[in-house]
Amino acid sequence: MAIGLGTGSTVAHVIQRLGELVHGGLNIVAVPTSYQTEMLAIRAGIPLTSLWAHPSLDIAIDGADQVDPKLNLVKGRGAAHTREKIVAYSATRFVIAVDEGKIVDILNCPVPLEVMPYARKLVEFQVAKLDGTPRLRLAQKKDGPIITDNGNFIIDADFGEILDPQKLGEELSSIPGILEHGIFTNVDEVHVGGRGGLRVLKR
Ligand code: A5P
Repeated sequence: MAIGLGTGSTVAHVIQRLGELVHGGLNIVAVPTSYQTEMLAIRAGIPLTSLWAHPSLDIAIDGADQVDPKLNLVKGRGAAHTREKIVAYSATRFVIAVDEGKIVDILNCPVPLEVMPYARKLVEFQVAKLDGTPRLRLAQKKDGPIITDNGNFIIDADFGEILDPQKLGEELSSIPGILEHGIFTNVDEVHVGGRGGLRVLKR
């Protein structure tokens, strides 16, 4: 199988387990969505490939920041959502793993936008026109903005409660300079881990 590997603390557990299965004989190749995932997968002994070599993936596995009852997601806390979306749309099956704390009635966390630095002001202006509050994400151990694995800025756009994620996603996609936004509407399954065990939500 060819597998897409998302990014984040939840996916790190997936990578560790997949590594154990590979050592046990599981025959997979994986496409990573970030430097972090690439480093973790190499350490776990998972053979890596690329979307050029494997443009069609059997499954993509990822985490999420929030999940609503219709399985719409917000992703991008780790600034990897552009590659995550490319990998998700390259996969026959897109599966999310989260803990109960990520399940909400209405999406309401800021939406991460990967933005070309050249377009920063235009994007901030357009986000404000959509009644959003844009905030340039700053780095922790570097002065100034964080720079994504693709060389861009992240603007976290706070829209309050997102009543129509599909519509907001389309509006954000129409703004020049936004490489990708963190609203995902194409998930097949969400695996929710909690004290009561695992439950699987399907579209
Ligand atoms: C990476 O940019 C994100 O989309 C992550 O997939 C998402 O933030 C979930 O991360 P955690 O599993 O660390 O909460």
